[in-house]
Amino acid sequence: MPSVIVLDDLSQEGLDLLEAAEGITYEVRTGLKGDDLRQALSEFDGAICRSGVKLTPDVLDGQTRLKAVVRAGVGTDNIDKPAATRAGIVVMNTPAGNTVSTAEHAFALMLAMSRNVAPAYQSLLEGRWDRKKFMGTQLAGKTLGVVGLGRIGLALVERAQAFEMNVIGYDPFMSAERAAELGIELVAEVREMLPKIDYLSVHTPLTEETKNLISTAEIEIIKPGARLVNAARGGIYDEAALVEGLKSGKLGGVALDVYPEEPCTESPLFGLPGVVCTPHLGASTEEAQTNVAVEAVELLTAYLTTGA
Ligand code: MLT
Repeated sequence: MPSVIVLDDLSQEGLDLLEAAEGITYEVRTGLKGDDLRQALSEFDGAICRSGVKLTPDVLDGQTRLKAVVRAGVGTDNIDKPAATRAGIVVMNTPAGNTVSTAEHAFALMLAMSRNVAPAYQSLLEGRWDRKKFMGTQLAGKTLGVVGLGRIGLALVERAQAFEMNVIGYDPFMSAERAAELGIELVAEVREMLPKIDYLSVHTPLTEETKNLISTAEIEIIKPGARLVNAARGGIYDEAALVEGLKSGKLGGVALDVYPEEPCTESPLFGLPGVVCTPHLGASTEEAQTNVAVEAVELLTAYLTTGA
């Protein structure tokens, strides 16, 4: 009988589904690393993880029983794919389950940044009633640049348009016709949109091409006062360049949910005026976690019981 190891916290709905799956047994073993993780993986046919556990070559190389790992979420950056391939382990993800939650969080960051929500609340906690200091800007009539028009990027576009924003998009895989249908002004290069945008939000994985996509040279040509959001992956914005851009007054704000190294509890950006940050909460809603857990269990049980 195939057995499954759950390596990170998974929503109860996912666990219930595993419990009910015929012909499958499972165990939850979280917080594993090193030799303990390697040994645990060798005792199971399938694994489910989120972003906490790190499946590096030293724990994957030489595994002979493990057939599949499913990431309950989108990014598989915590799983070394070449090592998994060498060991014959299939890596799957659940690309759709947290789309809305992540887009909503990117949008929440845009609103919070524009209306000074975090520092205004902090001022109340400190006993100040300071209305003049927290003059904001509205989103309606502003231009949002979106890099990456996949599921999450497009969900953000829909929300921005509902807030009467204009949208400029970059995505090498989107046709001009499709962009026109969606009311998006498509550009051939990210740099092309930068002088025109009031807000920028990136929705791509972190790759060689997207690492430091926005750095000093890009901030030089960006529209003065532009506000930048990243709820995708840390490292797409060059953080040192963001600090300079904020200090020089070129950038109007920066909102980050993700960081080059996570967990991240210290950053030169934390505490700078115009900055609002959250600890990778994009997919942290009950709905998204239920969706990705259920999808992950369905994928893995189907694979282990039917090979599909
Ligand atoms: C994802 O890749 O699914 C999101 O960034 C959320 C997460 O890592 O939990």
